[in-house]
Amino acid sequence: MGYAEVYKAAQDNPEAFWLEQAQAIDWVKAPEQALFDKGADLYEWYADSLVNGCYNAVDRHVLNGRAAQAAIIHDSPITGTKETITFAQLQTRVAALAGALVAQGVTSGDRVIIYMPMVPEAVEAMLACARIGAVHSVVFGGFAANELAVRIDDCTPKAIIAASCGLEPNRVVHYKPLLDGAIDMAQHKPDACIILQRAQAPCDMVEGRDVEWEAAKALGTPAECVAVAGNHPAYILYTSGTTGAPKGVVRHTAGHLVALNWTMKNIYNVDPGDVFWAASDVGWVVGHSYIAYGPLIAGNTTVVFEGKPVGTPDAGTFWRVISEHNVRSFFTAPTAIRAVKREDPKGLEVAKYDLTCLRALYLAGERADPDTIIWAQNVLGKPVYDHWWQTETGYTIAGNPAGLEALPVKIGSPTVPMPGYNVQILDEAGHRVGPDTLGAIAIKLPLPPGTLPTLWNAEDRFRKSYLSHFPGYYETGDAGMIDADGYLYIMARTDDVINVAGHRLSTGAMEEVLAGHPDVAECAVIGVNDALKGQAPMGFVCLTKGVDRPHAEIEAECVKRIRDQIGPVAAFKLALVVDRLPKTRSGKILRATMVKIADGETFKLPATIDDPAILDEIRAALQTIGYAKV
Ligand code: COA
Ligand code: AMP
Repeated sequence: MGYAEVYKAAQDNPEAFWLEQAQAIDWVKAPEQALFDKGADLYEWYADSLVNGCYNAVDRHVLNGRAAQAAIIHDSPITGTKETITFAQLQTRVAALAGALVAQGVTSGDRVIIYMPMVPEAVEAMLACARIGAVHSVVFGGFAANELAVRIDDCTPKAIIAASCGLEPNRVVHYKPLLDGAIDMAQHKPDACIILQRAQAPCDMVEGRDVEWEAAKALGTPAECVAVAGNHPAYILYTSGTTGAPKGVVRHTAGHLVALNWTMKNIYNVDPGDVFWAASDVGWVVGHSYIAYGPLIAGNTTVVFEGKPVGTPDAGTFWRVISEHNVRSFFTAPTAIRAVKREDPKGLEVAKYDLTCLRALYLAGERADPDTIIWAQNVLGKPVYDHWWQTETGYTIAGNPAGLEALPVKIGSPTVPMPGYNVQILDEAGHRVGPDTLGAIAIKLPLPPGTLPTLWNAEDRFRKSYLSHFPGYYETGDAGMIDADGYLYIMARTDDVINVAGHRLSTGAMEEVLAGHPDVAECAVIGVNDALKGQAPMGFVCLTKGVDRPHAEIEAECVKRIRDQIGPVAAFKLALVVDRLPKTRSGKILRATMVKIADGETFKLPATIDDPAILDEIRAALQTIGYAKV
C-alpha cells in the first residue's frame, strides 16, 4: 500500500487501522478497543489495555535477540568521551535505577522530575520511571530555577532526578544550585533527590534529601516492569503557551507506544537494528520521542549527543557522528543546519566523512527556510525532509512518509498529513477554505493515538487553549494553507508563541517578567527575524513616570531579569526603552505591526490605530540598534 491507501484506511476505519498498528507492541493485556470517546470532545486510546513502556523499549529486545545490540551510543565531544550501552546493559541499569526510585517510596502514578544534561543517565531515568509506572516530567537544562520551581509546584513530584552539572561549550552549568534554589522557591517539596555526580563539577548534597546515583541504587533491588493501563500518563512535558504558566502536556502510555513505533519505519525509514539520531535535547519533545522512546521501542540504536552543531570542535561534528556510528536517518532543527552552513558554506567538512550510511536528513521544530534545505540537499546529496509537529502531538502531523512511499519534495512544505490527522484550514468563522488560501490550521477531532488527551490538572485550560475556538477541532496555533495536491504549508503562529533556535518560547511569559521590573510601567515583547535562530525576542519597555536613570542601565537589567527568571535558553538580548507603545483605540498593543517594522517589511496601517505617529518613534528607536531597515 502507498501513502494514499494507508491514509484513507486510517480515515475510513480508524478503529481497525489503529488496532492493527497496536499488534507491533507487546501487551500485558492487548486492547480490544482502540478509541474511547469520553464525551465533550475528549478522547483516549487503548484505555482497556495493560502495558509497560520500558518493557517495550528495553526488555522485549533483550528477550528477542537484541541483548548484545547497542541501545544507546553516547557521543560527547564536549567531554571527549564515547560510550556504548547494549540493550542487556540498559536493562540492568534501568532496573537498578527503578529500584532506587522504589526505595525512595516512588510508586505507580507518582511524578518524578528529571533535570539532566545529554548523558545516557537522562534516558535511563525516563525509562526507570516508565518501568514502575511513575510519571516523569523532564525539565530542559537551559531554564532558570524559577521555571523549574513552577513545574515542581504544578506536577508535585515525589522525587527529582538530576545531575550535578551540564556542559555548554563556554561554561559549566551548575544544575545543583539551580535545583536547590527551585526547591526553596517552590511550595511543594520532593521527598528525595537522586543526583548524578559528574566529574566536571561535583556538587554538595543536602542531608536527608539527596542521594548519590550509585548509592541510591544500592539502597534498592532491581525493579520489574509494572503493568499500567493504556491511558496511564507516561509523562508530562511543559511547553510554552501565551502566559507565564507553562502548559503540562500529558502523554498516555499506550497510544505513545503504538504511534511512535509506526513512525520509525514509515516516516524515518529505519528497520530494527539501524542507528537513528535526533540531535536535540531530552528536555524537548523531540528528545522524548526520538532520542528516548521511539528508536528504542522499534529496536533501533539511539545516539545521545552532548555537543553543538558548531564549535564542538567544528562544523564537521554532525558528519563525524553520522559516519562513525553508521547513522541511517538523522533529525535536527533547521537552526542547527544554518549554524553549520554559516561556518562551512562550501560543505568542506562534509567531504571529509564517508556518509554512505545516511539515507536522509529530517528537519523540524521551526520553519525550514528554502536556502537551508537547498544547501543541505546539495552538500549531502541526500533527500531533506521537512516535517511539522508540536509538543502536543508528540510526532509528525505532516511529513513525508519516506519509509512507506517517498513523495516528491516541495520546498517550503512539510508535505502531507500523516494517517489519523484530518488537517483542515479554517477561516475566522470556522469554515473550511479552499486550496492555496491562508487560514488557521485545525485538526478534526479525534486526534490519533499518542497525541495529548488533556493538560495536567488543567482540563479547562486544555479546552480553552485548543478546543473552544473551532468546535469539533483541535486548534494548532499555526496558520497556513493546503495546495491543490494536498501539501501543507506552515506560515506563522496565530498566538504569542515564538520560535528561537527551534525552542518554543512565550512572549507573554517574557512580558510578565519585564512588567515585574520596578521601573517598567508597560512593555511588549515580539519575535523579530534572526538569520541564525529564525526568530529572536525583542522587548520594548516604557518607564514609570519620574524614573530618571540611564536607559542603557535599565535595558541591561531587563536582559538580566529574563535570563535569571526564564533562563539563558530565552536568548533575550534586545531590550529598548521607548516613550510609548503603538495601540489600537481600544488599547490593544499592535505587536504584529511592530514585528513588520523591525523586520523592514511593508504593512498596512491598522485601521483601528490610535496614534500613527508612535510607529515612527518605534521605527526610529529600532534603527538606532540596526533594525527597521527598509
Ligand atoms: N543547559 C544550559 N544552558 C543551555 C542549554 C542547556 N541544556 N542549552 C542552551 N543553553 C544556553 C546556551 O549556553 C546559551 O547561553 P549563552 O547566552 O550564555 O550563550 C543560551 O542557552 C542560548 O542557547 P542557544 O539558543 O542554543 O544558542 P547558542 O548560541 O548557544 O547556540 C546553536 C546556537 C544554533 C548552535 C544552537 O541553538 C543549536 O544547536 N540549535 C539547534 C536547535 C535544537 O536542537 N533545537 C531542539 C528542538 S528540535
Ligand atoms: P514545539 O511544541 O516546541 O515542537 O513547537 C511547535 C511549533 O513549532 C509548531 O506549532 C510550529 O509553530 C513550529 N514548527 C514545528 N515544526 C515546524 C515545521 N516543520 N515548519 C514550520 N513550523 C514548525
